[in-house]
Amino acid sequence: MDKAIIGGTGVYDAGGEGYSEKVKTKYGEVEMDILNIKGEEIIFLARHGKNHSVPPHLINYRANMMALKEMGVKYIYSTAAVGSCNENYEPGDVVVIKDFLDFTKSRPVTFFEGGEESVKHVDMSDPYCKNLRRRFCDFAKDQGLDIKGEGVYVCTEGPRFETAQEINMFKQLGGDVVGMTSVPEVILAKELGICYSTIGIISNWCTGMSGEITLHDIQGVMEKNKEKITNVFIKIFLMGLDQSHCNCSSAILEL
Ligand code: HPA
Repeated sequence: MDKAIIGGTGVYDAGGEGYSEKVKTKYGEVEMDILNIKGEEIIFLARHGKNHSVPPHLINYRANMMALKEMGVKYIYSTAAVGSCNENYEPGDVVVIKDFLDFTKSRPVTFFEGGEESVKHVDMSDPYCKNLRRRFCDFAKDQGLDIKGEGVYVCTEGPRFETAQEINMFKQLGGDVVGMTSVPEVILAKELGICYSTIGIISNWCTGMSGEITLHDIQGVMEKNKEKITNVFIKIFLMGLDQSHCNCSSAILEL
């Protein structure tokens, strides 16, 4: 079972028939769904839990990613609800995340803790798998999904939203969208040699961008896009993938 979808806010299923499975890891236990879609087994994991009860700063990212690795996963597509700090991307738009700026503060962000192991670093030249990103762009049109562009994801600690001045700073640093979960998920995937890509769904304007911040439309925005996005993921998974078009499986630098 080498393919998985991680659903962010508003994306709690990916269709198909399935059953639930609990996987124990040294970081904790993780519940996931195993879906059978057209004969292919695809794992679905709800990032915030099935009832959306785990806030971004308390998600057990290491358990989630290790559990997927232990199930044999090599390819992950994920979704993320994000605010926009780029005037060109408005609520309802879909963007492919290409890089990140890390403003998290207090979460474990690595599996590499030294001790028995040697000191390891991980290459971040392509944090989000270039092959999965390209394939998503290639197949989105077929599903009637309009991609607005690529974006740099600013990851904040949360759960509070940002101040207007913080958003001003993020814009100046080259950020396009803001969320609270891509770090450390994207880093841990790379440490495990997994190809990982995130599709951002803009749920709101960031603080100070357009009057008041409103999240009341979030469910509607997600509903509009989630099926098309997960259909693209599944289409790509069913066509088959390999790791020869990216460096995700060889990104660890060992000293
Ligand atoms: N800021 C941070 N995280 C978010 C936002 C936002 O505006 N929207 C959705 N997740």
